Amino acid sequence: MTQVFQVGKNRLSTPVGRWASVGPYYAMFPISFAFAMVDEHCPPGGAVLDPFVGRGSSIYAAVSTGRYGCGIEINEVGWLYSHAKLNPAPEVEVLQRNQEISHKSRGIRKSHINELPEFFRHCYTPTVLRYLLAARDNLNWKSSSVDATLMAIILVYLHGAKEKSLSNQMRQGKAMAPDYSITWWREHHLTPPNRQPMHFMAQRIRWRYAKGIPNLHDGSAYLGDSTQKLDDLRTEVEANRVPRFDLLFTSPPYYNITSYHYDQWLRLWMLGHEPRPSKTGGEWQNGFWSQTDYRSLLETVFSKCALVLKPEARIVVRTDAREFTLRVTKEVLAKAFPDKHPPVDEARPLFKPSQTSLYGDKSKKPGEIDLILLPR
Ligand SMILES: C[S@@+](CC[C@H](N)C(=O)[O-])C[C@H]1O[C@@H](n2cnc3c(N)ncnc32)[C@H](O)[C@@H]1O
Repeated sequence: MTQVFQVGKNRLSTPVGRWASVGPYYAMFPISFAFAMVDEHCPPGGAVLDPFVGRGSSIYAAVSTGRYGCGIEINEVGWLYSHAKLNPAPEVEVLQRNQEISHKSRGIRKSHINELPEFFRHCYTPTVLRYLLAARDNLNWKSSSVDATLMAIILVYLHGAKEKSLSNQMRQGKAMAPDYSITWWREHHLTPPNRQPMHFMAQRIRWRYAKGIPNLHDGSAYLGDSTQKLDDLRTEVEANRVPRFDLLFTSPPYYNITSYHYDQWLRLWMLGHEPRPSKTGGEWQNGFWSQTDYRSLLETVFSKCALVLKPEARIVVRTDAREFTLRVTKEVLAKAFPDKHPPVDEARPLFKPSQTSLYGDKSKKPGEIDLILLPR
């Protein structure tokens, strides 16, 4: 494991470590945790499944250590990070595409910028907005690996600390509400940073590739709802086009904690969504579900996962230590996997900070729990 992923200060010194950090996402696994779990619970050459893959650390740890990795994610931001990390395009092509987008940005009309809500003009300079609009209109991030790689790197820098990103001062992991942001910027006399977006992005692209492209095993990230995509995956497994899985390693959304859709509204706008936050994403995209819907999501997903695992497979689920989520998760896992020992809780002080406390969520939490199920 240490050959490909160094922990601590040296983590950016290898190609695997550099690509692992794409990109900021709320409630993500610490990368060292993902590598440690894959190393401990999946045999060499085995296969890892994550039906709530987020930014893809679980499957990335698999494919960068010679295993097969397969993930499913409903949120386009998480999916794009996962997909780009599994399929980084050649550096020269990404740099070339960055230039093309910059050329196209000259054709973006002022009226296009003025149609955007006021927030955007406080967040970005007109030059940056032109570049972003050109990228938004032209990058085919779902179908081209070059465009996916460039768009994933743009998303990383779309918002964050003013001196390190394309935006006025913002959190990196989570986009704030527009009115709140405008008021805060005014109070603090903050204006958007002056950037030449093509140069800024070219520097970030070169940095990402500076240690090379990681040597990756096959893997795939599916965009969509696991309650449905797992049926397609089962067909693939039964036709021997995809291997049966040795490890189910995931972290489901926590009940009533966050809305991945709302928190990522600005990055979702880059991917073609509305230019404002929306509490009404599609099914499963909100954080305000009924308890019945939450149980039903876990039951459907875990029972469908059971159909594509090897009999000797292990299961690692990181979840919220709060009563409802923990109780339901344990009950659902015990029912979906009757051939495994019931889940054992593991406190993991080695893997602090917790994933929800990364990227600025300082509220007090009872923490996370890792549930590990081994074959009987
Ligand atoms: C706790 S996060 C997982 C984070 C991930 N472990 C990481 O390191 O980035 C849960 C993820 O499940 C996704 N999700 C929720 N419902 C889903 C569904 N029905 N199908 C696929 N993904 C879903 C959310 O969008 C969110 O990205």
